[in-house]
Amino acid sequence: MEISKRLLPQSHRQEHAADETKLGFGDKFTDHMFKMDYYDRAWRNPRIEPTAPLSLSPAAMVLHYCQTVFEGLKCYRHPGDRLALFRPKDNFRRFNQSAERMAIPLVDEEFMLQAVKELLRVDGDWTPSLPGSSLYIRPTIIATEPHLGVRPAREYLLYVLLSPVGAYYKEGFAPIKIYVEDFFTRAAQGGLGSVKAGASYAASLLATEKAAQKGFTQLLWLDAQEHRYVEEVGSMNMFFVINGKIVTADLTGTILPGVTRSSVLKVAADMGLTVEERRLDINEVLAAKETGALTEAFGAGTAAVISPVGTLSYNERQFAIADGQVGPITQKLYDELVGIQYGGRPDPYGWIEFVD
Ligand code: COI
Repeated sequence: MEISKRLLPQSHRQEHAADETKLGFGDKFTDHMFKMDYYDRAWRNPRIEPTAPLSLSPAAMVLHYCQTVFEGLKCYRHPGDRLALFRPKDNFRRFNQSAERMAIPLVDEEFMLQAVKELLRVDGDWTPSLPGSSLYIRPTIIATEPHLGVRPAREYLLYVLLSPVGAYYKEGFAPIKIYVEDFFTRAAQGGLGSVKAGASYAASLLATEKAAQKGFTQLLWLDAQEHRYVEEVGSMNMFFVINGKIVTADLTGTILPGVTRSSVLKVAADMGLTVEERRLDINEVLAAKETGALTEAFGAGTAAVISPVGTLSYNERQFAIADGQVGPITQKLYDELVGIQYGGRPDPYGWIEFVD
């Protein structure tokens, strides 16, 4: 499919951020977006046009039944100003897995990569260069058909936004505080936990707000059945260093198969660390804290990168991890992963995909 373009004249384009140290997360968007419609059983009319509000029927099915999926990936500025995507094919594979679960028509993954590259050829100069900053890419599909009966929509809009971003958490790479949620749950077997559906994030808001009121940055979800097994943080997968081994929840259908998660596991194994993907009881984490076997904890996700956890709170008790500092394994993994993403270190895995 040919991608048509309707671009803003240079004189109508926005100024880029003057001070990249002030970039937050997800509140600024570049001048253009990619769009594509689905109707009559096919994706049609791929185009790049100025970023603008959408015109949508108030009966659009996404507004009533939440039929929507999204992805998150990043473009980095490498030395020599080359623009680099990190494992984009994995994101588009997961985009389709999410679409399938939400009864949304699949997309051509190879075409999506071409479309994102084309959008970056238009607006890629927005990619910041400050370490820790990047151009966040948000592909989204929404059900646009105006209809109030409950069934999969027959019309959709796919769009891709670009957003220059800094750190996801206000703490940056400093350790964050996490509340272990023992009442609300994020996902049960057979639910939406392993896909990027807007509905999952909506369901997490109330519990996250309650934790925020107590001073916690994020929640650590436990399993829905027994409220015992560690799942994920919602914006990140979660890792613990216990007896020098990296332990993370296995992919049993209730947590997101994170691209950063799989990258951390690969890099850690190649550093000679033992990695374990398994059920992890929160009581084992606490017992390991008591004996000193738990030395570090961190989360990993596209938006958050690697985020050290300095405090865990469970059952009204608070536990400092790594004395509230960044632990040495967390730091080493961060340096390696970020080194590959920003081009400061070699990429032995073929994870980087250049835009040019
Ligand atoms: C990401 O890491 O890209 C996410 O989707 C997490 C969050 C911003 C929703």
